Amino acid sequence: MTTPHLPALLISIPEGVIDLGWGHPSARLHPAAALAAAADYALGGESPIPLQYGAVQGFGPFLEALADFLSGQAAVGGPVKPETLFLTAGASQAIDMAATLFAKTDDTVYVEEPTYYLIGRIFLDHGLNIIGVPTDADGLNTDALAEMLSDGAIPAPRLLYTIPTYQNPSGAVLPLQRRRHLIELARRYGFTVIADEVYQLLHYGPPPPPPLAMLDDAPDAAGSGAGVISLGSFSKILAPGLRLGWVQASPGIIGRFVDSGLAFSGGGLNHFGATLAHAMLELGLLSDNLDNLRRVYGQRMDAVGDALSTELAGLVDFAKPGGGYFLWLTVRDGADTVALLPTANEAGVSYRPGADFSASGGFGNALRISIALYESEELAVAVRRLASILR
Ligand SMILES: Cc1ncc(COP(=O)(O)O)c(C=O)c1O
Repeated sequence: MTTPHLPALLISIPEGVIDLGWGHPSARLHPAAALAAAADYALGGESPIPLQYGAVQGFGPFLEALADFLSGQAAVGGPVKPETLFLTAGASQAIDMAATLFAKTDDTVYVEEPTYYLIGRIFLDHGLNIIGVPTDADGLNTDALAEMLSDGAIPAPRLLYTIPTYQNPSGAVLPLQRRRHLIELARRYGFTVIADEVYQLLHYGPPPPPPLAMLDDAPDAAGSGAGVISLGSFSKILAPGLRLGWVQASPGIIGRFVDSGLAFSGGGLNHFGATLAHAMLELGLLSDNLDNLRRVYGQRMDAVGDALSTELAGLVDFAKPGGGYFLWLTVRDGADTVALLPTANEAGVSYRPGADFSASGGFGNALRISIALYESEELAVAVRRLASILR
């Protein structure tokens, strides 16, 4: 009997299929040489620091360098203080940790409708009830949220999970006014906003409005959680295999993360990765990488936008986002995108059906495609294949 091979990676794609369903970067975009130089920088002087347990809040020199780096980003829009940051092992881990720290079993979490399709599992792991909040072309509909919050018949939220910038899956960007409204509602009704902002820095034109944590001007000194937790990730600006990200929040909330049993026992959550990313910053390589990603993804977004306009005119509605990975297509004749998937795979293209992004089974005629995994030419071929089956 032969030993089965265990998979090396999270995704597997059938031969001959261009799979637009995955929000993963293409291997070509990994800055392997830069990371090798960073590893040399971090480990080369035989410093023991990268291999020790790290400080609970995160590797201090990196927190300071990261705060500087973020302060210089147009998409952040102001100075960031290191004491408002906590290093994580990526946004997924940070969301899990926020659920541990700020909610308990049977509490309710509100999510956008549609939302990131993998997020429900994290909240279910914590025994939370999930309720969808309507969205529109500008993201979370905060007026609809205000009505839900004042309706005594709907369970009140302990957490609200939102992707305010280049939303996954819709690509929508929450305008400044709604960002402020959301924070005001969180304060009034005493819930914690988890703002998943992993695409915040990936803008291909003008920057989006600032992260929610930048707008929270009533710091939560007691760490009750009423207010905002913004999440960033190196998965989308460096490499997902690193498993490195950050929380930005008031010092009171950061204190809750620092005091967690998890960080207390193991120290900084991805200390070694933090020392590598620190070296990338010290060597100026992170900015280079981000510039390259913006350029390449911007071209890919244009290529897909053009192909959709040419090939699918009259068949689908979509809005090309100014950043992030995703385009959200609504098929006009009400096609069932789950039922269509096997036909699409036979035609050599795949996507993520809209129903995957709904807590209540909506969006049956929608689908999400990603620009991240393939080059412009392959993306254009994929759109042609999609057009052939939708016709
Ligand atoms: C909205 C959103 N949040 C979180 C993640 C995962 O982030 P991380 O790799 O930092 O855990 C993704 C990845 O696709 C995402 O799209």
